Amino acid sequence: MNKETLDNLKEAFAGESQANRTYLAFAQRAEKEGLTQAAKLFRAAADSETVHALKHLAALRKIGSTGENLKEAISGETYEFQSMYPRMIEAASGEDEKAARMSFENANAVEQEHAKLFGEILADLAGAPAVDYWVCQNCGHVHLDEAPEKCPVCGWSQRFFNKID
Ligand SMILES: [Fe+2]
Ligand SMILES: [Fe+2]
Repeated sequence: MNKETLDNLKEAFAGESQANRTYLAFAQRAEKEGLTQAAKLFRAAADSETVHALKHLAALRKIGSTGENLKEAISGETYEFQSMYPRMIEAASGEDEKAARMSFENANAVEQEHAKLFGEILADLAGAPAVDYWVCQNCGHVHLDEAPEKCPVCGWSQRFFNKID
């Protein structure tokens, strides 16, 4: 693919992906303010941005087989917890940015879990045992089988866990 189009697809994918999460956060805020129609529109736009992001990604031809995708996911997660987040945590500590530091530390802990979970399923893709996944809505920790009484990463209670279908 031509370099300019390749770069444009990457930029557009990043932008649309960010718009999706930003609009979902805006929708939550609108719900809190009792502005349900605005919330609904933000959710509609968020869904629309997901369509765009996925089309850009498909045009980038970045989606391989599940085995290849697991390997790519493991390398991305590993980069994050070995190199990206440690650097960011250090900088946030140095600048005394507490909220940023906590956000980076939680993500850093959970990226290690992701890499491990992806590695386990890659090791026996066809024979992977059926388990439920529960996700902490404060730190992102992924728990297997049942929601724990307290999140082992951030300490928040069971009621903040979402079960993944
Ligand atoms: Fe991750
Ligand atoms: Fe948590």
